[in-house]
Amino acid sequence: MTSGVQQSPSRVFGDPYDLVNVDGKTVSSDEARVSVHAHVLSYGTGTFEGIRANWNADQGQLYRSQAQAHYERLHRSARILGLTLAFPAQELVAMTGELMRANEVRTDAYVRPLLVQVGDVLPVRMHDVRSRLSIAITPIVGDYVNAAGVRLMVSTWRRQSDVAIPGRAKVVGSYVGPSLAKTEAVRAGYDEALLLTGDGFVAEATTSNVFLRVGDTWHTPPVTDDILEGITRSEVCALVEETTGRSVQERRIQRSELYTADEALLCGTASTVVPVVEVDGRPVGDGSPGRQTAELRDTLRAIARRDDPRHHEWTSPVYEEAS
Ligand SMILES: Cc1ncc(COP(=O)(O)O)c(C=O)c1O
Repeated sequence: MTSGVQQSPSRVFGDPYDLVNVDGKTVSSDEARVSVHAHVLSYGTGTFEGIRANWNADQGQLYRSQAQAHYERLHRSARILGLTLAFPAQELVAMTGELMRANEVRTDAYVRPLLVQVGDVLPVRMHDVRSRLSIAITPIVGDYVNAAGVRLMVSTWRRQSDVAIPGRAKVVGSYVGPSLAKTEAVRAGYDEALLLTGDGFVAEATTSNVFLRVGDTWHTPPVTDDILEGITRSEVCALVEETTGRSVQERRIQRSELYTADEALLCGTASTVVPVVEVDGRPVGDGSPGRQTAELRDTLRAIARRDDPRHHEWTSPVYEEAS
């Protein structure tokens, strides 16, 4: 059967590593299954994270990117949903390192922590359902989106509002909207979808935040415009300020500003930083990747592998460092 959806040219993820962590214990993925009655399968009740680790072959070292910040966000998501997350962020970072060593991860990798309602409970509710925390790791073998330049379509689907499903909590079920938007965009011949807020302002792409450069200044939607408060977003804000001396303007952005920007980029854990070269068939700038975007991408990728001396506080090594 063909779906009519273009397949991405290369695989993004390899076969997952077998060992996973479930509620603090290392088990095989076979032992980590949930029932077909698990609440999350019917209702999407749970939250998750996506953390990247980068393998530096020259140093023989694996670096977790912003693991503490990701687990702090998982804690905030759990608070919003009223779920209990028994382990403090620091302990979760340590558990992730242990799991990486147990799986002997020596490749770029994606970590998927999941805090989900797994109890066999039929009624729709958040309370009195057993939840479970798992952490799993998958190798990254290709680009998540076209790293050479993304062609964006403004989706007919909108970002859900904070009063429906809070976007700042990475809620499992809230990814249905972005999935519909992505498929719509790919079927229309684009690489990625850009979602507007319910009232028509720029929010974000399906799994990344968006920035525009207008003249000397970069702009990005505020955290009150139904975006996920991206950790890469905060890194981009810091680097823009450090390299240009001007802070990023966090303000509401109208759709037509996408058409007149000098540069645009998407950023997120999976994609890192990628240039946007086209929006709705109109070229961004001259239609080639922006120069500042390329610099930001190269800097962030070097920092993530500690090939750059800046911001070692954004990464943490997994293997014991030679003294
Ligand atoms: C909806 C959404 N927006 C933005 C992002 C980027 O956030 P981060 O940089 O923390 O990965 C993600 C990725 O997790 C996402 O799923």
